[in-house]
Amino acid sequence: MAELHGNFSLLHRACTLLVAVCILHLSVVIFFYLRTYNIVARVQTPVASQYITTTSVPTTPEVATEGNKTLQYCPNTPPKLEGPLYVDFSEPVKLEGIMKNTRLALGGHFRPSECVSEQKVAVIIPFRDREQHLKYWLFYMHPILQRQQLDYGVYIIEQGYMEALKEYDYNCFVFSDVDLIPVDDRNIYKCYDQPRHLSVAMDKFGFRLPYNEYFGGVSSLSKEQYLKINGFPNNYWGWGGEDDDVYNRLTFRGMSISRPDHQIGRCKMIRHARDKLNEPNPHRFSRISQTKQTMEKDGINSLSYSVMSWEKNRLYTKVVVDIGKPPHL
Ligand code: BGC
Repeated sequence: MAELHGNFSLLHRACTLLVAVCILHLSVVIFFYLRTYNIVARVQTPVASQYITTTSVPTTPEVATEGNKTLQYCPNTPPKLEGPLYVDFSEPVKLEGIMKNTRLALGGHFRPSECVSEQKVAVIIPFRDREQHLKYWLFYMHPILQRQQLDYGVYIIEQGYMEALKEYDYNCFVFSDVDLIPVDDRNIYKCYDQPRHLSVAMDKFGFRLPYNEYFGGVSSLSKEQYLKINGFPNNYWGWGGEDDDVYNRLTFRGMSISRPDHQIGRCKMIRHARDKLNEPNPHRFSRISQTKQTMEKDGINSLSYSVMSWEKNRLYTKVVVDIGKPPHL
């Protein structure tokens, strides 16, 4: 009987040890699994703080605003960010909900009421006949930009830099394709110490850069950075190349490109056929090879256009301009 009891307690101890080893093994496996998918890191660190480098934002001093109200600067990491987002282009979207957002002023202007945003951001969307894309863009982007606590205005326009500045002293310019939506709101649409390329992981390119020098899709430049490169080139007609020219300009002026982490910089493109009347520009490669010689005389200082109309609604300001015809036509 005693021998039986002894064997049983030995067996009991062996089983306990085996269960403990199994639990330990399982914990290690779960830990490494979560870490692979960035979940552990995300729980431990405040949202986005390790990825986002910002311009020299004061660390929360008090600032006085209109009237007798005293507000603080908005924090570097806005508190209401959600992280990865669900973005879907398979169903039509309705803008009525956002239209009723009383915090949006006419022309698609917004500024947070709870804090003072250090930057004034003009979001500029070059646009032609893409009403459906614009609808998705407005539907997804207004809530994101508001969670990012930006003081911003939306301009649907060519030559956006000049026209936006006629309205407000913007000090940051975000240039966005109308068909691109970020799928993570930690990708903050503002300006940084260096020019920022924001659309670094597009679904169209398998969530990676198509090439290291790629600066297309969505980018941001402070007013200072924009002036340093004499703005964007005007001598590109048709599709392609102008973003590569901007990249060249930035490097020739000694700047480097800042980018978010590939997880945070993911974005989705609305699939579409190539625009008619916007064929690939056959001269783009030779133009790109001459940026160094052309950038000083082709840019803001050579801009020539006439404004045809201004239209403002709750969600955006639309400016139609006449930029003339390509020189060879
Ligand atoms: C064009 C760019 C374009 C990129 C990705 C390049 O060949 O010059 O303008 O953004 O391809 O599509």
